[in-house]
Amino acid sequence: MNETTRSSQWLFGAAAAAVVALSGFATSTAFAADKLTYYCSAQEDWCQLMVQAFEKETGIKVAMSRKSSGETFAQIKAEARNPKGDIWWGGTGDPHLQAAEEGLTEAYVSPMRGELHDWALSQAASANDKTIGIYAGGLGYGYNTELLKEKGLPVPASWMDLTDPVYKGEVQMANPNSSGTAYTTLATIVQLFGEEKGFEFMKALHKNINQYTKSGSAPIKAAARGETTIGIVFMHDAVKQAVSGFPINVVAPSEGTGYEIGSMSIIKGARNPESAQKFYDWALTSAVQSRSLEVKAYQVMSNKAADSSPSAPKLDEIKLIDYDFKKYGSSAERKRLLKKWDDEVKSLPR
Ligand code: G6P
Repeated sequence: MNETTRSSQWLFGAAAAAVVALSGFATSTAFAADKLTYYCSAQEDWCQLMVQAFEKETGIKVAMSRKSSGETFAQIKAEARNPKGDIWWGGTGDPHLQAAEEGLTEAYVSPMRGELHDWALSQAASANDKTIGIYAGGLGYGYNTELLKEKGLPVPASWMDLTDPVYKGEVQMANPNSSGTAYTTLATIVQLFGEEKGFEFMKALHKNINQYTKSGSAPIKAAARGETTIGIVFMHDAVKQAVSGFPINVVAPSEGTGYEIGSMSIIKGARNPESAQKFYDWALTSAVQSRSLEVKAYQVMSNKAADSSPSAPKLDEIKLIDYDFKKYGSSAERKRLLKKWDDEVKSLPR
C-alpha cells in the first residue's frame, strides 16, 4: 500500500467516522424531538387528557406518570444525577419552588408569558424563571351531607370547627410529605394562626383524622363514596365531586384560607429539552387550558383568555390569606415544617 492509498484510506475512514457521528447525532436529535417524559401532579384524568391532546397535535410520544407533588419532588431529587423526566406539570407550587432553589429545574422564558395572569408570572419571578404558574385554587374542605345528617353532626364552617371532638374519626386529609394539598394546609394554618397556635391546631385536628392519604384529593373522593364525612382538599376538588352528583358540600373556612399556584417546571438535564419547551409553550395556551373543563378541573387557569366554569369556586369572593410562597416554598422552611409535623403531630396517638 503506497502513501497515497494509505492517506486516502485514512481520509475515507475519517470521513466515514464523521458521517456516522453526524448521522448518530441527527438520529438522536430527531429521536429526542419525538419523545417526552412527563411527570404529572394534577388529577389523573387531566394528565391523561394532556397526553392525548399533545400527542395528537405534535406527534411527540409521551410517557406519563402521575404522582403527588411532594412525591414527584422527591423523585426528581433522587434522579438528579441521571434525570429521567423532561417536564413536571401540575401540583402545588411550593415543591416546584423548592426544586428551583435546589437547582433541579431549568430556567425558561416562554413566548406565552404575555397572556398570563400576574400571579403566574410572580411564581416565575420567585424562582428565577425555573417554574411558572399554570393554575390557582383555594384550599378548603368538603363534607358528605348525607353522612353528616345520618350521624347528627353539626355543619362545620371554619377551620377551628374541624378540631371539635364531635368530629373524632370523621376527618380525612393527605400526608403533607407526599401531598402538596396537605402541605398547603399545614402552611396555611401556620400563616393563619401563627406557628405555635398553628401546631396546636394540627395536633387537635390529628385526633379527629381517620387517615392520612398519599394523594391530596383522595379525602374528598372518599367522602363522595361515604368512607369519611369530611375531606380537607382544594375547593375545586370538592366541587368536582359535587357536580358529578355526589352529596358533597364545599366549605370556604370562615377564618380565611390559603391557596396554591399550581406550577410547571422543565427538569434540569432533561433528555428531550426541545419537546419539554414545546409542551411548556403549548400548555400555557388558552385553548389547552380551556380543555380543563372537560375533566371538571375547576382551578383558575393562568392564561387570561382561558374559559372558566360557572361552577368553579370564585377566588375573589373567598377570604384568601396573603400566602407567602417564597417563604413556604423555600427548601429550608418546607423541610423544617414537614419534620416538625412528623415529629410533633404525626407521631401522636389518635
Ligand atoms: C389535585 C388538585 C390540584 C393540586 C393537586 C395536588 O389534583 O386538583 O389543584 O395541585 O391535587 O396534588 P397532591 O396529591 O400533591 O396534593
